[in-house]
Amino acid sequence: MTAHIIDGKAIAADLRANIAGEVARLNAAHGLVPGIAVVLVGDNAASEVYVRNKTRAVADAGMRAIDRKLPASTGEAELLELIAALNADPSVNGILVQLPLPPQIDAQKVIAAIDPAKDVDGFHPLNVGRHASGLNGLVPCTPLGCILLAKTVHASLAGLEAVVIGRSNIVGKPVAQLLLSENATVTVAHSKTRDLPAVCRRADVLIAAIGRPEMIRGDWIKPGATVIDVGINRVAGEAGKSRIVGDVAFAEAAAVAGAITPVPGGVGPMTIACLLLNTLRAACAQKGLAAPIL
Ligand code: GUN
Repeated sequence: MTAHIIDGKAIAADLRANIAGEVARLNAAHGLVPGIAVVLVGDNAASEVYVRNKTRAVADAGMRAIDRKLPASTGEAELLELIAALNADPSVNGILVQLPLPPQIDAQKVIAAIDPAKDVDGFHPLNVGRHASGLNGLVPCTPLGCILLAKTVHASLAGLEAVVIGRSNIVGKPVAQLLLSENATVTVAHSKTRDLPAVCRRADVLIAAIGRPEMIRGDWIKPGATVIDVGINRVAGEAGKSRIVGDVAFAEAAAVAGAITPVPGGVGPMTIACLLLNTLRAACAQKGLAAPIL
């Protein structure tokens, strides 16, 4: 069997085009241009690339990006002051503080300081709790992207066995919660899980978010399963160059799975598209406008 390759890049491009259309409509009808503040503290190379890609996508969708770059030496109080100013600014509909933050700053404190209505990352405890309680709120971008990709394969996830590997606040826990909202039967596996290959083999939908290059082997996959690979791992490649691989051994898994996301070009582009979607939703909610159906 050779798996269907889930083209995250194309699916994200479609979603971004729809969002851009909705932004243009909102601007024409209500003079609303959604704005998102993207805050980067320090000079983590990977974070710089992510932030550059995010701000470019925001502009491409017709929204306004407010870039705030702060030095690595920035203190917690100074960052909290910036967050307070962005919370109070009505032209800022979304606030994203790129993680990780330098060690002198308590990330959880910063996340909790963001106005939950502007929390386009969906990391604020109020949004986490709302989602866990089945209420409306902003949900994290990467998990939302995973669900949208899985739903390109399965019209409904109801009753499917879903296994999430990884229990981070950014991916594992929220994606498990979203799968539960979709009525899947959810198992969250992690580093202490016994016989992980056997647990994975139960999955109709397998979501890998561990951050370990190619850890999930072909014989861990149930034949015909849908595999969503969240991993972005840089490993040594040929001729002294590096390359990016996922958490799943792609060629082995693609020989067994029914559908699989590539790395790169799978979940990554969807994260950015979902950030745009969250920003649009946040802006509409703040202006008392109906949420766009996309
Ligand atoms: N660092 C890695 N992933 C993310 C994300 O989704 N949002 C933010 N703010 N930082 C991250």
